[in-house]
Amino acid sequence: MKILVVGGAGYIGSHTVRQLRAAGHTVVVLDNLSSGHPEALPGDVELVRADLLDAGAVKDTLIRTQPDAVIHFAALIEVGESMRAPARYYRNNVVGSLNLLQAIVDTRKIPLVFSSTAAVYGTTDAVPIPENAAMQPESVYGETKLMTERMIHAFHVAHGLPYTILRYFNVCGASPAGDIGEAHANQTHLIELACLTALGQREKMMIFGEDYPTPDGTCIRDYVHVQDLADAHVLAVEALGAGRQDAATYNVGLGHGFSVKQVLDAVDAVTGTPLPREIAPRRAGDPPRLVADATKIVQELGFTPQFTDLQAIVQTAWDWHREHPHGFKD
Ligand code: UFG
Repeated sequence: MKILVVGGAGYIGSHTVRQLRAAGHTVVVLDNLSSGHPEALPGDVELVRADLLDAGAVKDTLIRTQPDAVIHFAALIEVGESMRAPARYYRNNVVGSLNLLQAIVDTRKIPLVFSSTAAVYGTTDAVPIPENAAMQPESVYGETKLMTERMIHAFHVAHGLPYTILRYFNVCGASPAGDIGEAHANQTHLIELACLTALGQREKMMIFGEDYPTPDGTCIRDYVHVQDLADAHVLAVEALGAGRQDAATYNVGLGHGFSVKQVLDAVDAVTGTPLPREIAPRRAGDPPRLVADATKIVQELGFTPQFTDLQAIVQTAWDWHREHPHGFKD
């Protein structure tokens, strides 16, 4: 298939581009490069530098490149920032996605795979969380993803747009090849921060809360390796292309979680040096436990994650950060 990957120069996008090509697909990337890195893409992939808010450019790209499917990653993703600058998030994530949906139904009516998040569930008592759990996002970021999910479904009902929505849990790690990985301007993710602390770029690790109702008192998350997540996109787009899926939503996680302390212990084991740690107050909006019920994607798409061992996951992140302590600038 020929696949237009919107936001393909970002962390998850670039790993997906790689896995799509390994599976024999042709890729065109559309990215505004606000946070993406052209260096993360193979040199022979066409990169269209355009913004989803430029509806004309999006439509022109679909007409000119004639893809068979679209995978849509492009979004602002910082929960805290979304609370301080909601207009920016609604405009970029919701209006941008609306422009893309309109361009698809106006031109080619090709299937869409959309990158959503466990943040759509908000705090939930469900453990693990199935796809039909109540959705009460606690952040503007989560709200923009839920609104986009609902727009996609409405376009399916009104225009027959085939879609698959993937709700990611905690994405982490880097390509085992060691040449692409996480390189956010504003790092907030636990494993990335721990690796940068181990490299001496930060003084210590703060553990946000040790008084949660979990076995060791720290929050539990479902850490899914970025390459496994990329493979989930390949499965999803191939199922849509073959007409085996029409309107589906899947959690993507391992189905089991690790605590903050377990993650930091794994980083210590991989780097061989204990990280300086400090217990800090809880971070606002952190639910105690977020673990996916991932049975649906396993059963329906044959998702088989390769990275199920926490140390193996952390090892790939460590290899990337150690070789690229300043991300793609190295
Ligand atoms: N944490 C710390 N210290 C840090 C950083 C994080 O203790 O320095 C803790 C957090 O409090 C949380 C856990 O580590 O308990 C994981 O935090 P991350 O910031 O790595 O990830 P989140 O769980 O907050 O969020 C991520 C994505 C969201 C997505 C969510 C779904 O960023 O977009 O996973 O599970 F919705």
